[in-house]
Amino acid sequence: MQFSQLFVAMLAAGSAEGQLDKLAKAAGLKYFGTAVDNPSLNNQAYMKIARDKDEFGQITPANGQKWSNTEPSQGRFSYGSGDAVANIAKQTGQLLRCHTLVWYNQLPGYVSSNYNRDQMQRIITTHIQNVAGHYKGQCYAWDVVNEAFEDDGKFRQSAMYRAMGVDYITHSFKIAAQTDPATKLYYNDFNIERCCNAKINATIAMIKTVQAAGARVDGIGMQGHSRVGKSPSKRELMDTMARFSELVEEVAYTEVDIRHTKLPTTAADREQQAKDYLDVVGACLETPKCVGITIWDYTDQYSWIPGQYPGEGEACLWDRSYNKKPAYTSIASLLQSAASVGLRSKATPAVAAVEARTVTVATTLATVTAAAR
Ligand SMILES: *[C@@H]1O[C@H](CO)[C@@H](O)[C@H](O)[C@H]1NC(C)=O
Repeated sequence: MQFSQLFVAMLAAGSAEGQLDKLAKAAGLKYFGTAVDNPSLNNQAYMKIARDKDEFGQITPANGQKWSNTEPSQGRFSYGSGDAVANIAKQTGQLLRCHTLVWYNQLPGYVSSNYNRDQMQRIITTHIQNVAGHYKGQCYAWDVVNEAFEDDGKFRQSAMYRAMGVDYITHSFKIAAQTDPATKLYYNDFNIERCCNAKINATIAMIKTVQAAGARVDGIGMQGHSRVGKSPSKRELMDTMARFSELVEEVAYTEVDIRHTKLPTTAADREQQAKDYLDVVGACLETPKCVGITIWDYTDQYSWIPGQYPGEGEACLWDRSYNKKPAYTSIASLLQSAASVGLRSKATPAVAAVEARTVTVATTLATVTAAAR
């Protein structure tokens, strides 16, 4: 395939409309998905798009399956919030990424007491057996362990780590595998996108340790929260996934949003955001083991960003009035052109040469899209 063919295909696809999962599947990905949180469930405008399987072939409960919701006091399990989102997937047939079993945050107080190794091991075992047991058969994947590292690559001194060291991770993966053997077992973290920082290196070392101790780790999830104009390049993203691909059978972007750090935004800011999103989607498309992309909610109306980072936001593909942004249109065009040239089915050296130049094409596309608007 010639570079010019891909370029022409992208120009032709410049006005592509949607929907994202349909286009992603045609391009050879398993899914394009979104997080869904409980407060949005009674909003009909929101739900109409969230339940559209052609738009989102996969959903993730943003909060409902976290420890504080599923086992708020020791040995008392509650699944109302998690089920409310999981049931959508049951009805629509969307894939469910389940999130998350063992995380240092949103953790009830009792887990953080000073337990010894055996006590903590029992607490983790009970939690995973119950929660993964409850959702058995429903989860395409489980984020078994979330965010085990500080940004400098040191293990977080979580209650689990203090009691068990790295063994808490091994143990969690083993119990998850016993409880729901058919689900893909993921390690999930943020700031492990841009190759090759200390956190990425620590993650790789940890996965090797856990696997050597006999646990199965099927996937690594890169959350993909980043900032417009400062997000990793496609090359940096691909280099990381190449390293992860040596260890696990699949990788995925699990919580993507790209926030503006300055509001209100200009048209140029929104074009830059489109380009930054294209780097993520392009990197996934060109990494054979990358199975899909999940955005961390699809509309600014329910984004967690303004609450977490005051003054920043507009990180999603739809604005708060449910208008699609340039980033949406660009992603749709990229997926469509990748499908039309069979990008993922022809991983030949010739294609590799084309791939190396897609950043330029993507930039050109963004410009062309902007000019056409
Ligand atoms: C991470 O590992 C890579 C490959 O071994 C190395 O080039 C890089 O310098 C390491 N990064 C850090 C921050 O240690």
